[in-house]
Amino acid sequence: MSKPCPLSTQIPGPAVGRPAIELKGLGKAFPGRDVPALDGIDLAVPKGTIYGILGPNGAGKTTLMSILGGLLKPTSGAACIDGHDTATGRAAIKRILGLVPQEPAVYPTLTARENLDYFGRMQGLSGAHLQARIQACLELAEMAEHADRRVDQFSGGYRRRLNMVIGLIHEPRILILDEPTVAIDPHSRSLIHQRLRELHAAGITILISTHYMEEAEHLCQRIAIINHGKLLVQGTVPDLLAMQRDKTIQLQLEGDPPADLEARLEGISGLLEVHVAGRCVLIVAEQPDSLVAPLMRAIHERGLGVRSMSFGTASLEQVFLALTGSPGAPK
Ligand SMILES: Nc1ncnc2c1ncn2[C@@H]1O[C@H](COP(=O)(O)OP(=O)(O)OP(=O)(O)O)[C@@H](O)[C@H]1O
Ligand SMILES: [Mg+2]
Repeated sequence: MSKPCPLSTQIPGPAVGRPAIELKGLGKAFPGRDVPALDGIDLAVPKGTIYGILGPNGAGKTTLMSILGGLLKPTSGAACIDGHDTATGRAAIKRILGLVPQEPAVYPTLTARENLDYFGRMQGLSGAHLQARIQACLELAEMAEHADRRVDQFSGGYRRRLNMVIGLIHEPRILILDEPTVAIDPHSRSLIHQRLRELHAAGITILISTHYMEEAEHLCQRIAIINHGKLLVQGTVPDLLAMQRDKTIQLQLEGDPPADLEARLEGISGLLEVHVAGRCVLIVAEQPDSLVAPLMRAIHERGLGVRSMSFGTASLEQVFLALTGSPGAPK
């Protein structure tokens, strides 16, 4: 018997306003491991959003998604999907959740159609409805003409596309995808992005993990960054970008600079790096704002004008590296 979600019961108001996915203090310790794979994660994924999970290798992304998909049980805390506890509400969750695992879970000796047929039956579909869903999924994956080929003859990209639509066979309202675009060509990646946008437009909630920052930035309305099983930060892309100011100023000079301009600018206190290339000047500083006045003074003293000045904007990759530690940098 499915028990109500221990989290949702604490949230007043109608079910429609509740998050699609809720994690409260979610923990997972694997036997024999000193450090837990998940360590007290609190997260709420609003209905209808595309929500990105970022984190370095081993951060805990697959563990988190496996708990949501019912493949693992948490050792502490709780995870709920549309108000159903993942530990006790599997029957209800099965109908509304689609899980696209990191490693394509397809039968290599079956054809694409046979795989869809098998997984459709596992979801309780049959007859004309199942056949219609198989056809729709083949078309979504743009592989109708390869429907009757064995999967072990497929390229990695086709395998991933099939893996994705298997997760869609029963038209889930919530879709979880673990690195769905890893190691595939730009065409397959762009097809998967397009399909995810269409699903989002149709009101489906999507939780996706990825190592591609650009993908997360362009696809996701909200992002969580995790590392060592802990949630480091979560918010909209602009929220995250605002956390990390880029430390550069770019100047465009009005005329050609004298040969000693770089040496002259290097003397300005608080400046970390300066590069002069033609009429372009790139400055790196801990606090770029505080350098504007002395920079302008030094440039004007050389009889030069400034055509434009711009402050760099941080990328999601810079935020990610700053939070999780760049390779080789101490954390
Ligand atoms: N079955 C298991 N038994 C023991 N430890 C495990 C098991 N599965 C995962 N782990 C450990 O849990 C931690 C989190 O692993 P997980 O696979 O969730 O990371 P991930 O963020 O998905 O990494 P990746 O980006 O490489 O896919 C790692 O330290 C991993 O070694
Ligand atoms: Mg993983």
